[in-house]
Amino acid sequence: MIIAIDGPAGAGKSTVAKLLAKQLGFLYIDTGAMYRALTLKALNKGISVSDTQAIIKLAANSTINLINNRDGTIKVTLDGIDVTQDIRQLRITQFVSDIAKIKEVRQIMVELQRKLGSQGNTVLDGLDIGTVVFPNADKKFYIDADFKERVLRRHKESLGLGQNTTFESVSKDLSNRDTIDSNRSVAPLKKADDAIYVDTTNLSIEEVIDKLLRLVNG
Ligand code: DC
Repeated sequence: MIIAIDGPAGAGKSTVAKLLAKQLGFLYIDTGAMYRALTLKALNKGISVSDTQAIIKLAANSTINLINNRDGTIKVTLDGIDVTQDIRQLRITQFVSDIAKIKEVRQIMVELQRKLGSQGNTVLDGLDIGTVVFPNADKKFYIDADFKERVLRRHKESLGLGQNTTFESVSKDLSNRDTIDSNRSVAPLKKADDAIYVDTTNLSIEEVIDKLLRLVNG
């Protein structure tokens, strides 16, 4: 069974997808982590995110892997090196949308996502899982929340990671990412027609998980 979870940044989709996968005993694939890993490599090599050709070449010559640990956490590797923590850095968050909008990069990532997802029961989260990666997914959810609530969640998360951010800077970054992710020409953020819309603004994580489990099992 394939479960597709899409939605904007900060809506809680990764947290929800990870917990849902754990509860169901499914594999979890965080597709955003793949775009983040490539962004990390580009920035570390001093390649500008606007140098599209260089980024495409980099994507073709990179090995990104997602490993599910027994405790429900995931490990992200880039060319065999653990980058799980590094891909959450602010500088990555700031530039990842520019890399994720490149068509050829997406083709490479989507191929990898399909390969990983076809191994068995899987929960994937992203922006285009239900629309592009697995249009025939068994269950599709679109997880959303009000903009202010999404900023609050991302701000809390970044403080938890020890990042020195303000509500205003997170708000600016999220608004910028929303614009790029929703308006890009290839696979923009969009609810699939057959996805179930879940507004999590006033729900706890437990309530969201309960709701999704009922919808998956029902
Ligand atoms: O969910 P996240 O913050 O880790 O996502 C990082 C970026 O990658 C974000 O700008 C959206 C983009 N992304 C995408 O374009 N397609 C996906 N399937 C997953 C993420």
